[in-house]
This record gives sequence, C-alpha cells and structure tokens, in this order.
Amino acid sequence: MKICRSIESLAEALAERGQRRVGFVPTMGFLHAGHLSLVKQCREDNDLAVVSIYVNPAQFGRNEDLDRYPRDPQRDIALLENERTDLLFLPDSGAMYPPGYATYVSVEGLDAVLCGASRPGHFRGVATVVLQLFNLVRPQRAYFGQKDAQQAIVIRRLVRDLHLPVQVIVMPIVRDSDGLALSSRNVYLAPAERLAALHLPQALQRADALVRSGVLDSRAIRTAMRNELERDPLLASEYIAIVGLPDLLETPVVDLNNTLIAAAVRVGRTRLIDNLLLGDLSC
Ligand code: PAJ
Repeated sequence: MKICRSIESLAEALAERGQRRVGFVPTMGFLHAGHLSLVKQCREDNDLAVVSIYVNPAQFGRNEDLDRYPRDPQRDIALLENERTDLLFLPDSGAMYPPGYATYVSVEGLDAVLCGASRPGHFRGVATVVLQLFNLVRPQRAYFGQKDAQQAIVIRRLVRDLHLPVQVIVMPIVRDSDGLALSSRNVYLAPAERLAALHLPQALQRADALVRSGVLDSRAIRTAMRNELERDPLLASEYIAIVGLPDLLETPVVDLNNTLIAAAVRVGRTRLIDNLLLGDLSC
C-alpha cells in the first residue's frame, strides 16, 4: 500500500491511474469493522482502492472532542494493508486548511436538522472536506455508511447539486454482537455507560417491531422509543426523529418505503447516534 502524506504526493500517485476505476473511502481513522466493510466493497468494485484518514477540524464544534478523538495510525495502516488497499491518503493536520483557506460549502436545509441542529457547522465541515477530497482523488465511486445516514444524504445532495462525477454508495450499519453500532467513539464508554448505550439500538428495535406490527403513527413510535431511552439515568436523549427521505422533514405517519427513524443520545460525555432506515438512501 502506498501512503501519501501530502497533496502533491497524492496527485503524483494518482497521475498513473490510466483507465483504472478508482473507489474511495473517506474516514477519520481509528478503524473498525464498519469502516472495513466500506473498504471491502470498494476493493471489490474498483481497480484502485483509495482510503483517506483525516480528523477534519472543520466538522468539530468548539466544545467537541477534536483533541481527544481516538487515533492509531499504525494499527489503521496494518488493517488497510490487510484489506489490500492500494493507496492511503494521510494528510498532516493543517494540510487541508492552509493559512488563508476561505472556501466552505453548505448543503442548506439538510444541514440544519437532526444532528445539524445540535452540531451547528458540522455538516458544512463535512461537505467541505469531502468536496476537497473528491477533487483530490477524483473517484468514480465513493463509499459511506448508513450509520451516519444524514451525512450520506448530505453528500448525495452535494454530488447532485454540484454535478460531481462520482457515484455515492451507502453501506449497511455494522454492529457489535450486543447490537451497538460500531463507532470510533465507543472507546470512550466506561463499562456501565456501554450497557446504558444499548438502549439506543433497543429503542430502534422497538420502533422496528411497532412498524412491522402496523403502527405507523410517528408520535406513538417516538413515545415508545423515548420510554426505552429513559430506562437508564446514564443516558440522555438528544433527539428522536422520524423523517421522510430525502428531505429529512418530520412526518406524522411512517411511509414504509421512505422513512428514516434516527436518534442521538449522550452517555456521559459521549454522543452516540443510530438509525433505522425504511426504504433506501438512493432516492
Ligand atoms: P468516520 O466517522 O471515520 O466514518 C467513516 C465512514 O465509515 C463513514 O461513511 C461512516 O458512516 C462509516 N461508518 C462508521 N461506522 C460505521 C458502522 N458501524 N457501519 C458502517 N459504516 C460505518 O464519517 C466520517 O468519518 C467523516 O465525517 C468523513 C466522511 C470522513 C469526513 O470527515
């Protein structure tokens, strides 16, 4: 695997791409099986598999965990070698926003709801770095996880609105054996917090069971989810959203082909998100 630590060396490495199809997986590192599921698919679909690891300061709020975000580049490199990644872009922390950097891109509306409401500027930071990375890597295909469903929806809209020549592929949520969605942030959780965190996937399972039994009233589903989340005092619910796709607007009634049920919670200092998708993200 070739490792490029500067924009220049990345450009040089990609200059030899010829007719090869390039697939791309952007990440912030501290890789787990969720990330690797994207890399595996990318490896399968393309001639060149490119991964980036960059903890993007622009998507972290002032009081968020930028400084303590977990990092382990040596371990990540070994995992990516194992997946037969061709190229790893590992820019230095200042490389993407050099002095004088001034250009940001906002996906309006979609960036203000759900996670965007509690993390102002977050999706602007995500869209900006992903657009930069797309321009540097120029992939035919890019892989994102449904774990961050709103992010995937924001990126799809960015690609559509700016006519970017890339196909966005969204992969299913990979979970631990206890049901918790894998996340780099799970390492923050103390044992009791980890147990409390399980109420998040359990709340979504309750929503799923209700929907399957024919309960489509959003208020009833939200109440059942809130009851589940309130069962542990270590867990504080931030939002429970039942929204239509692709506009992320609240819907009073679940459409079985076109609804995202998403929740965010805080367990101690750790913020966790999870969701249930009814339909698919390609619409
Ligand atoms: P990061 O949190 O490292 O996630 C990188 C990719 O892995 C995202 O597309 C995310 O949705 C996916 N992913 C994370 N956990 C997953 C899981 N349990 N199952 C499946 N996929 C999972 O998301 C980001 O980084 C950043 O915002 C980024 C897009 C790199 C821009 O900075």
